[in-house]
Amino acid sequence: MAFVIAVAQRKGGAGKSTVAVTLATALAALGENVTLLDTDPQKTLARWHALRQGAAAANSLAFEEPSGWRVPQTVEKLRKRPGFVVIDTPPHADTDSRLGIRAADLVLLPLQPSPADLWAMEATLELTAEERKPVALLFNRQPSSGKLRDEIAAEISKRGLPLLPTPLGNRTAYASAFALGLGVVEHAPRGSAAEEARAFAHAIRREAS
Ligand SMILES: Nc1ncnc2c1ncn2[C@@H]1O[C@H](COP(=O)(O)OP(=O)(O)OP(=O)(O)O)[C@@H](O)[C@H]1O
Ligand SMILES: [Mg+2]
Repeated sequence: MAFVIAVAQRKGGAGKSTVAVTLATALAALGENVTLLDTDPQKTLARWHALRQGAAAANSLAFEEPSGWRVPQTVEKLRKRPGFVVIDTPPHADTDSRLGIRAADLVLLPLQPSPADLWAMEATLELTAEERKPVALLFNRQPSSGKLRDEIAAEISKRGLPLLPTPLGNRTAYASAFALGLGVVEHAPRGSAAEEARAFAHAIRREAS
């Protein structure tokens, strides 16, 4: 049975698509069977996937772009296989992101360590609660140090929300790999971003077991 992760956060530009690609490619590099689903009408990942064709460094990764009622249908089909399904969801559109959340075993909520992202996650937390799904928060674009990050982490902990211990830093490597249809573990496997991505993938594997 595949473990299904929906990457969701109402705030636009929080890093959903980057996190989905980073996770899917890092799990694939660990030898996992991975399908990446783009359910966002912006089709960011469909464009990423088109660039991926023919890229020598690309590991095997399945890709689908269902929308509407096809989202649960596609996930149920993929769930029968071992491995992971990673769903990228759109910002704002409650109906579309709800479909991804409903189909998931875990909702992964990326946020930059900032008050704006913290406030914006409320709507997504409400959706996950309504759908009775477990949630894990992930700091994305984390600065290398900072009082603000510690304050936001303290606030999250005070609220009893689980924060993955494997943040992704604010690094151009993520966008550079993305522009080539790759993940950081494929494009720059010895870099700091790839190291973060592998730690993140291991943390998700632990969540799945
Ligand atoms: N860890 C990171 N380090 C540096 N830049 C990042 C990081 N994560 C995301 N970005 C950049 O932030 C921008 C928004 O990222 P992304 O498209 O992944 O967000 P999103 O939540 O999917 O956006 P949308 O809500 O529009 O779907 C992109 O330019 C991306 O390259
Ligand atoms: Mg996106």
